[in-house]
Amino acid sequence: MKEHLPTHVAFIMDGNGRWAQKRGLARLKGHAQGIETVRTVCEELSKLGVEYATFYTFSTENWKRPWEEVGGLFTLMRTYFKNEMKQIMDKNLRVLFIGDHSETSKLPADILTLMTDVETQTKDNTGLTITFAINYSGRDELLRAATKLVQQSAATGEAVTPEMMAAALDTAGIPDPDFIIRTSGEQRISNFLLWQLAYAELYFSDVAWPDFTATHLQAALSSYMSRNRRFGAVPQVSAA
Ligand code: IPE
Ligand code: IPE
Ligand code: MG
Repeated sequence: MKEHLPTHVAFIMDGNGRWAQKRGLARLKGHAQGIETVRTVCEELSKLGVEYATFYTFSTENWKRPWEEVGGLFTLMRTYFKNEMKQIMDKNLRVLFIGDHSETSKLPADILTLMTDVETQTKDNTGLTITFAINYSGRDELLRAATKLVQQSAATGEAVTPEMMAAALDTAGIPDPDFIIRTSGEQRISNFLLWQLAYAELYFSDVAWPDFTATHLQAALSSYMSRNRRFGAVPQVSAA
């Protein structure tokens, strides 16, 4: 049986820096342009009735970048949510954040507050759920979940189940992605959603994220819908 539209699409938004450098611009210009793509993609997914979108926005490894770029990314985030909240509410979008957002994380205090405020403001919205992964890595998330589970298990004596694992992750309550799209030619997962991507269909586009349009997204979704997902079972044969 061919697939329907995915319920959840995840994106590794890659290629902002190269997009800018190719044009003789500062890398931050690429990130700014990349925000336009987030808007376009969310609009298209909402229109199609996809329920969840997740965007890899800032990884725990991205702290290795020059401060000018890292600080610039936070400034872009502040501006984005300042300018976008009305649109987000008008479009009925629910916004969530995943990653290490503890007080001891390196994230600026106002970014921590901003994330909590945006989640609170949008919590009753019923349209597309958008998750931004910020200060996120799959291994870090798994370690934090394992720590919680060890404490839980020690207290209750219960064995850990897959359901308990899923509930201990930052993505608790969000279904696993059916489909993951990475732009800009690189074919790797870069420490993203390591538990949740177990059976996701993969799609790699050569287009840089700032150039990724609704048409590119539609082509990716067509590819998804032409695939047979088997989850380890034998292929389904349609009745004669
Ligand atoms: C992805 O674009 C966005 C972030 C990691 C924040 P990059 O900044 O990685 O762009 P390239 O890969 O250097 O072109
Ligand atoms: C992955 O992109 C992280 C984000 C999109 C936020 P990177 O550009 O950081 O990944 P690598 O370094 O190419 O693996
Ligand atoms: Mg990159």
